Amino acid sequence: MTVVKENELVEWGTRIGKFIEPPMFLLLSGPLGSGKSVLARSIAEGMGVKTPVISPTFNLLITYPSLRGYQIAHLDLYRLSDPRDLWELGWEDLGVKDQIVIVEWPERADTFLPEDSWEIQLSFVEGEESVRNLVIEKHGNPGFLPSLLISASP
Ligand SMILES: Nc1ncnc2c1ncn2[C@@H]1O[C@H](COP(=O)(O)OP(=O)(O)OP(=O)(O)O)[C@@H](O)[C@H]1O
Ligand SMILES: [Mg+2]
Repeated sequence: MTVVKENELVEWGTRIGKFIEPPMFLLLSGPLGSGKSVLARSIAEGMGVKTPVISPTFNLLITYPSLRGYQIAHLDLYRLSDPRDLWELGWEDLGVKDQIVIVEWPERADTFLPEDSWEIQLSFVEGEESVRNLVIEKHGNPGFLPSLLISASP
């Protein structure tokens, strides 16, 4: 577990966006306001997405082209009431070879999650508003993820 400030998370996300290769699933978990969208936005920024990355809370899925030639599919499954509703979103077509898939609230997809993914868990640190706990978990064989670099300064 690592403690990260917002600028450190953004720096990491930008590097993730620059160096990951599709297809890849990135699962961003953690409570409301823990920083999942901050991370998703910085990954998109690193990939060279030129349009503003908004929160896909109501449409659940938004796709963006990027300067790297790949597509980002950004999902927020908070409002998904039944995992079977994923089919209406075109879930089975996600993760094709030129796509990076970023999923907020991945636990809502339950058993339909892919075998290969990086799961990034964010959580609050008690009594501190500007930092988050971060845990990185590898599921299966998801491919290269740049590592988080944190300076030792408090
Ligand atoms: N260390 C930090 N890392 C990330 N965000 C931080 C940090 N410190 C403060 N914040 C703030 O916390 C908020 C995180 O909001 P964000 O929309 O990314 O949350 P979220 O996890 O996507 O929530 P939701 O589940 O509602 O989609 C932002 O306002 C951000 O500025
Ligand atoms: Mg969000």
